[in-house]
Amino acid sequence: MIKHFPVMLNEVLESVPTNCKIIVDWTLGHWWHSKAILEKIFSIKKLLGFDLDPNILEDTKDRLKEFWNKIEFIWSSYVNVPKFLWKQKADFILLDLGVNMEHFKDWKRGFSLNYDSQLDMRFDNKNWKSAYDIINNYSEKELTKVFVDYAEFSILKAEEIAKIIVTKRRNKKIESTFELKALLNQVGLWQKASTVIFQAIRIETNKEIDNLKMLLDNLPTILSEWWRCGIITFHSLEDRIVKNYFKDLSKSGLFELVYKKAIPATYQEVLKNRASRSAKYRVIEKTFIQN
Ligand SMILES: C[S@@+](CC[C@H](N)C(=O)[O-])C[C@H]1O[C@@H](n2cnc3c(N)ncnc32)[C@H](O)[C@@H]1O
Repeated sequence: MIKHFPVMLNEVLESVPTNCKIIVDWTLGHWWHSKAILEKIFSIKKLLGFDLDPNILEDTKDRLKEFWNKIEFIWSSYVNVPKFLWKQKADFILLDLGVNMEHFKDWKRGFSLNYDSQLDMRFDNKNWKSAYDIINNYSEKELTKVFVDYAEFSILKAEEIAKIIVTKRRNKKIESTFELKALLNQVGLWQKASTVIFQAIRIETNKEIDNLKMLLDNLPTILSEWWRCGIITFHSLEDRIVKNYFKDLSKSGLFELVYKKAIPATYQEVLKNRASRSAKYRVIEKTFIQN
């Protein structure tokens, strides 16, 4: 049995409208959130659960058979949601961004700098581009941009990291997490800072920021009138994107912010689950009936 703490579960449950019928979980993972929602809200007729990682989805399918009649498991990126919702709209949509703890524990996939493995970091193993391709093929300028944009390092430091990578790979490709970690150590980055660099490479590998923007652009058309969308982020850049997007939507008069500010995880939750310390939850509601 997988031990897992779904992040901000109480806050998510409180935000789900009590009489919704169709819900979409954009990032099903091991469906801890979805399971709790289904157990609480009996009016739900259908739950569309997306995940990009086929291994996670298979793992998940085998559990909790009592809800199989309500769930559609969809191996696809959440950016494709409109294709699956062309007949009906969603009453509640949940997005829980980032990685699953299982990604870190599955040492062969290269998400964690604590295990020596091939540089990979793809959620979807059909994705052509892996962390290996980024580290070995991106130009010095492109690598610098990844470290500035997603790790929020200064340009000077990002250039230093990019330079050592590009210099090293001239002799031999950088193949493993430990090889990359050793290079980061050489420019004075230890565990915490190296973790941030690994996270930046993962974000670039899976195009996480581009996907988030695409998904938000679809939001107004896939949500039913009067219903809600909740998003949990773990990265300040993602939170800023969601915050600004929700703010703009609320200015349009078609949407209303359910909470004026993002809700953080409670102190008690952070004590129990350190992964929740950077979590932020924002919820928006569609308020206007369109023709
Ligand atoms: C933080 S976990 C979700 C955990 C889930 N809420 C639960 O209760 O178990 C995020 C999940 O999103 C998936 N994911 C990442 N990018 C995705 C995308 N573009 N489309 C669909 N799923 C994605 C990952 O594979 C991962 O399983």
